[in-house]
Amino acid sequence: MGTTNLTGKVALVTGGTKGIGRATAEHLLAAGASVAVCARTGAEVRAAEVELGDRALGIVCDVADAGACERMVEETVARFGRLDILVNNAGLGIFKPLREMSVEEWQLQIDVNLGGVFYCSRAALPHLSASGDGFIVNIASLASRHPFRGGTGYNASKYGLLGLTEAMLLDVRYDDVRVSIVMPGSVDTYFNGREQVPERTWRLHVDDCASAVMQLLSYPKEAHVSRVELRPSHPPRKA
Ligand SMILES: NC(=O)c1ccc[n+]([C@@H]2O[C@H](COP(=O)([O-])OP(=O)(O)OC[C@H]3O[C@@H](n4cnc5c(N)ncnc54)[C@H](OP(=O)(O)O)[C@@H]3O)[C@@H](O)[C@H]2O)c1
Repeated sequence: MGTTNLTGKVALVTGGTKGIGRATAEHLLAAGASVAVCARTGAEVRAAEVELGDRALGIVCDVADAGACERMVEETVARFGRLDILVNNAGLGIFKPLREMSVEEWQLQIDVNLGGVFYCSRAALPHLSASGDGFIVNIASLASRHPFRGGTGYNASKYGLLGLTEAMLLDVRYDDVRVSIVMPGSVDTYFNGREQVPERTWRLHVDDCASAVMQLLSYPKEAHVSRVELRPSHPPRKA
């Protein structure tokens, strides 16, 4: 785990009960931060809060709900007194060609992967700015700039997230908030109905993504790594 010292800092990780978000929450805690995590599934949120320990807070929140995002940010600040780091990680992938994708599936993907980042960032901004050294890290994807067949909704949401991130960066840099994007390739998680496996495969490991987030946070306030593309070294060769 990284050597960044985050003692006294407070982070909020959306989608923090499993996968990349959970690993990121663990790395943040190991660096000394207090960490709130959210997800929609109440039992998993409660279990994560216990497993993550004393400096963790679990909040049930669907990031597609703007009001719930505002309440989550306020609950985090009420509990820990401040907010320094927001990791917008919650996301889902419904991979289907255009003709098979329902309007509801389209809307869900856009609402969660793109809307959720806007809602959480908007709610968190005053607190991140008050921190004097605020940070937003958005977990996007290599699908933010590489289209794939069946990616109509997912590509749209993640390309949109790249635009949102880079414009937001310019909006808030003079409010003492840095905004960065991490764009992983395929990661071993529960994403898209897969099973997360503990051993290393050709895919990225969740710790690789968490390490990328920690590295972004390790730079001094005057330096800003704004985009990280993280890919498996040896994906299967295409025939
Ligand atoms: N795995 C990959 O190959 C890969 C590659 C590139 C980028 N990413 C991105 O990485 C991020 C994390 O994905 P992951 O692979 O770690 O997936 P994961 O293992 O499925 O974990 C997703 C997490 O987000 C939560 N979540 C989902 N929808 C939510 C919502 N509407 N509101 C709040 N929480 C929600 C889930 O809990 P609940 O279901 O209980 O809400 C869970 O905690 C996503 O943005 C994804 O697009 C993943």
